[in-house]
Amino acid sequence: MIRRLGDADFQTILSVVNEAAVAYRGKIPVDCYKTPYMPQKELEQEIRSGVQFYGYTENGEVVAVMGIQPVGDVTLIRHAYTLTSHQRWGIGAKLLNHLLHLAETGRILVGTWELASWAIRFYQNHGFQPTTRQQTNRLLRKYWNIPHRQVETSVVLTLERNTMKTLLLKVNPQNPEATKIQAAAEIIKKGGLVAFPTETVYGLGADALNAEAVLALFAAKRRPLDNPPIVHVADKTEVASLVKAFPKKAELLMEKFWPGPLTLILKHSAKVPNVTTAGLDTVALRMPNHPVALALIKATQRPIAAPSANLAGKPSPTTAQHVYEDLNGRINVILDGGAANIGVESTVVDLSTNPPTLLRPGGTLFETLKAVLPDLVLHPFVQAEKELALEKTRSPGMRHRHYAPKAPVVLVEGNLQAVVAKIKELTKAYRVEGKKVGVLATDETQGNYQADVSKSLGSRSNLESVAKNLFRLLREIDAENVDVIITESVPFEGLGLAVMNRLRNASAYHIVKAD
Ligand code: TXA
Ligand code: MG
Repeated sequence: MIRRLGDADFQTILSVVNEAAVAYRGKIPVDCYKTPYMPQKELEQEIRSGVQFYGYTENGEVVAVMGIQPVGDVTLIRHAYTLTSHQRWGIGAKLLNHLLHLAETGRILVGTWELASWAIRFYQNHGFQPTTRQQTNRLLRKYWNIPHRQVETSVVLTLERNTMKTLLLKVNPQNPEATKIQAAAEIIKKGGLVAFPTETVYGLGADALNAEAVLALFAAKRRPLDNPPIVHVADKTEVASLVKAFPKKAELLMEKFWPGPLTLILKHSAKVPNVTTAGLDTVALRMPNHPVALALIKATQRPIAAPSANLAGKPSPTTAQHVYEDLNGRINVILDGGAANIGVESTVVDLSTNPPTLLRPGGTLFETLKAVLPDLVLHPFVQAEKELALEKTRSPGMRHRHYAPKAPVVLVEGNLQAVVAKIKELTKAYRVEGKKVGVLATDETQGNYQADVSKSLGSRSNLESVAKNLFRLLREIDAENVDVIITESVPFEGLGLAVMNRLRNASAYHIVKAD
């Protein structure tokens, strides 16, 4: 049996990798491995950076593990280890076969010595073509930053995949045309992918109860498989069949805040497929407050899994144009209903814990929720100033970098005067180095900066406007091809909590304290 390994399997992964790596030592050229021995910390780092582990089990025991990582448009097979007592090529082939289905793109880079020989035998049965040595070298350099001679037997398998035609369809945001909604719903029912507007950001929808469709959704977004999407419903009554239990607190929050930018985490029923929940025992549920989203879910007659409609790691899309930039050729339809109103995603509240925990700040304010649910607590991630230790992450989303433009982001925090002074100083210093600098300022401060590009997030007295502009401006400033983006901070109040959470994450915690 092959199964996805989760956090609970960490010790198992560690022991298989360590045992196998020690056994391989001396038998294969040392420089075939970048890290021939994987101490715990390195393995944790691998998981954090998006390596997904799969295990092959015999009689319930994990006897082989394989780690894959989507990098760019290639799926890199990062690890393949078998217990010394089980080193048969058949195990590798089984894992590889499984991974071909999971691979989000048609390309797989096989980077380990013993795997390459399995793979070469294997590809012939699957119509794969190994790349030339030169192409392999290029990919290795690009994604792994090591020259080909260090991974002598590596091989890249490519599979041609048809890019699909993406239909861009304008809809009336207030009163969507029934024929257009019906056409989009038919596509979702057949397992296709439709991007649609919600009040927060655009979502990429698939039939939440169709595992194949949800897998295709992960593939289109290049989203790590361990990060489950939010399941969207059009009516509160649809929740009952998707959850195991319906706590009073859920009823209360749904009553007060649905439809709206609030996602609830609850224990799920057997009806929800494993891929939709990434193997967790909980599911994320939300009823959006947007006529197009609601009409689409109703017409589809089933819940719709919809993460934000961006490529994984990029800022969430607030317009159909953003969706098009990221996903053209990868999804069936984009329903264009104009710019999203709120601009940051929904607030995620975990009701499977006691006390309930706010995992992601968003469109429904913490202060407002707290008034209804006095025991609600903020997860440390919400205001974290550095990357959280793996064991402290609770939402899978906490493990991955998000909202990241191409250029590095520096976030300057402190009192406003000090922040402005610090940004001026940093701008000067970067420009002396010959760097093109972009600054994200606010209406009140923008006049202070002599950057190559500066943009205002909105007025400090109107954090709604800042939230609404945030993702659009991250994309726009990136399009100016700046070398570095320096951004102001805003207070951690109201929507500022969500804005700061996104900015800290976008900066990969490159935070400069100004006072
Ligand atoms: O506003 C929104 O919520 C948008 C629109 C499209 O509805 N959707 C959205 O989805 O932001 P996505 O997939 O980009 O973010 C979902 C978040 C991720 O951080 C994920 O880790 C978390 O919800 N999540 C999903 N299922 C979870 C679960 N069972 N337990 C904890 N966190 C979960
Ligand atoms: Mg997202």
